[in-house]
Amino acid sequence: MAELQIVDGHSFGATKRHDSWWVEILPVVIVLGGFGAYATFRAFEGKFYEWGPYLSPFYSPLIDAGHTWWKFSPALLILAGPLGFRATCYYYRKAYYRAFFLDPPACAVNDRGGHNYKGETAFPLILQNIHRYFFYVALIFLCFLWYDAIKSFMWDGRFGVGLGSLIMLANVVLLSLYSFSCHSLRHLIGGKLDCFSCSQSSHLRYKGWKGVSALNENHMLFAWLSLFSVGLTDLYIRLVSSGAITDMKIL
Ligand code: FES
Repeated sequence: MAELQIVDGHSFGATKRHDSWWVEILPVVIVLGGFGAYATFRAFEGKFYEWGPYLSPFYSPLIDAGHTWWKFSPALLILAGPLGFRATCYYYRKAYYRAFFLDPPACAVNDRGGHNYKGETAFPLILQNIHRYFFYVALIFLCFLWYDAIKSFMWDGRFGVGLGSLIMLANVVLLSLYSFSCHSLRHLIGGKLDCFSCSQSSHLRYKGWKGVSALNENHMLFAWLSLFSVGLTDLYIRLVSSGAITDMKIL
């Protein structure tokens, strides 16, 4: 079993741990880095985001393609909301601080040292505390995505199911699980209460807090699954829209 004790001194990577702690870092670098590169490419591409009743999550809500006041990809007007929510997420912070900044690279492993670590109490990392407000922004985006997912089952005014409809539905379900397992929501519902049973409303809040806490236990899992689903949903719609593949009509 690893000893959770940092070795004295400032030699980078020094630790008393005997396990392969660095193995956790590699998938984060590859997956998060890959997603970041793909999302950036798609955000700037500005085409192949709509086909039939399908709309890419990177381009939701749909901004009228006939606009003249904005010369660039409409995704650039949208991405700050979902991106801000993910970038300030408690779980992702831990993941990318370790994987990209190596600060520290893992629990009980020495970082570079030689700097005054103030955590998230000083600029610029204090800005991470804006996460609770990004949660409200994420709720607005979720409404649009649920609308898009439901609309993806309507083909010229009639109900129909394409493979893309199912993919969009799975994506918004995973995004909802990710959002409703958020630490900030858990605090919002159950925080600042001294007594859970003192009134009807505090009892209701207790029930809500228990529900969010149950989801919260799997927040890391939902973070990764929803990241994959957003990327794959966009990729599927891009491939169908560009004619590279044909959408499979199921019903
Ligand atoms: S803590 Fe991860 S979304 Fe809020």
